[in-house]
Amino acid sequence: MISNIEGQKVVIKRNKTVKNIHEHLLVFMFTFMSFILLHPCSPLKTGKFILLNEGFSSRSELEKIGIPTPKLIKIDQETIVEEYVEGGDLYAYLKNSDDFGIVQQVGSITRTLHDSGACFIDNKAQNYLVRNSEIYRTDLGLIQNKATEFMKSLDIGIFLASLLDLESTKYKKIEEEFLEGYTRKIKSSRSIPYLSIIIRNIASLVLAANHKNLAKNLLSKSDIQ
Ligand SMILES: Nc1ncnc2c1ncn2[C@@H]1O[C@H](COP(=O)(O)OP(=O)(O)OP(=O)(O)O)[C@@H](O)[C@H]1O
Ligand SMILES: [Mg+2]
Repeated sequence: MISNIEGQKVVIKRNKTVKNIHEHLLVFMFTFMSFILLHPCSPLKTGKFILLNEGFSSRSELEKIGIPTPKLIKIDQETIVEEYVEGGDLYAYLKNSDDFGIVQQVGSITRTLHDSGACFIDNKAQNYLVRNSEIYRTDLGLIQNKATEFMKSLDIGIFLASLLDLESTKYKKIEEEFLEGYTRKIKSSRSIPYLSIIIRNIASLVLAANHKNLAKNLLSKSDIQ
């Protein structure tokens, strides 16, 4: 919900703790995939951690390692109030624009968090916001202080899956820019966590809105090694 507090445009969100996170599709998908991909994982940290992750100190930690987030105005058990980021979310932005270069920032943000030993889990494009060609990360509740190969693959797979229903040439360029950002620091190889593509394909079945584009993209060969 968009509102106005003392002349500033803000968004008011209901905190996920009250949405009963255990029924959240993502938590189910996490457990399901870790099971079928034979990567048994300890359950996701939710509950009070969601509140902590969304809080002031967590946001300033992220800022310190180079991950911008919208300015937090107020947080309590029920609601989160943060500044409104005018450009909207990255999925909508990419749907209406050819500014693919911006996706490199997402690759590098994802990599930065992984290198710090954490991961996003809910890494879909809708959780990235755009302002003046800069990317901001929102929806921080599910960040986990652990980054196994499976969890890193999940971040990459879910991000790509969330855009897999865009037009094919568009999707290809987006994937390219994301990988460029994710692997920029490593010179020799372009290899990424090996479960990423399998997870992308499974997650896309749930996340995609345009199934015609999705089918086409699923059938085309990926450039990821
Ligand atoms: N600070 C913001 N400025 C502008 N738009 C925002 C902002 N925060 C969120 N939105 C919009 O609202 C949508 C949902 O926000 P968010 O992901 O934080 O909520 P959510 O309850 O976790 O939703 P979901 O469970 O679907 O991920 C985003 O995809 C984005 O389009
Ligand atoms: Mg979200």
